[in-house]
Amino acid sequence: MSLVEAAKAVRLNAHAPYSGFRVGAAIRAVSGTVYVGCNVENVAYPEGTCAEAGAIAAMVAAGDGQIAEVVVIADSPLPVSPCGGCRQKLAEFGAGDVRVTMATTAGHSEIMTLSALLPGAFGVDHMKDS
Ligand code: THU
Repeated sequence: MSLVEAAKAVRLNAHAPYSGFRVGAAIRAVSGTVYVGCNVENVAYPEGTCAEAGAIAAMVAAGDGQIAEVVVIADSPLPVSPCGGCRQKLAEFGAGDVRVTMATTAGHSEIMTLSALLPGAFGVDHMKDS
């Protein structure tokens, strides 16, 4: 199964009764293993989690931790763009040249690198003394 197919399949498990906007994410780790996640909303709206966060949690729980490639998919008119928080979460585990494919269920897609999605990302270097 391709990474796009994995993201498309897990999207169907999304719990999105409030927005009605189901999102699927699939991460291929450097190890080669694929981890998937979907958005999980909550009646207390801020407690909901994004698809990307679910895939990252699955990867970390499995003892993996280096992202090679990401796909995010939704039934949207434009390729779905990871939210700001998820860009930072992805940058925690992926290098700047990691490709993020933003896709629609209709078959449109756009590819950007993590560094293009989050220029000037906050990182450990910002916390070090000069
Ligand atoms: N959402 C994601 O899961 N990933 C994104 O990249 C964009 C937004 C979810 C959060 C919420 O459940 C719904 O989409 C509407 O914002």
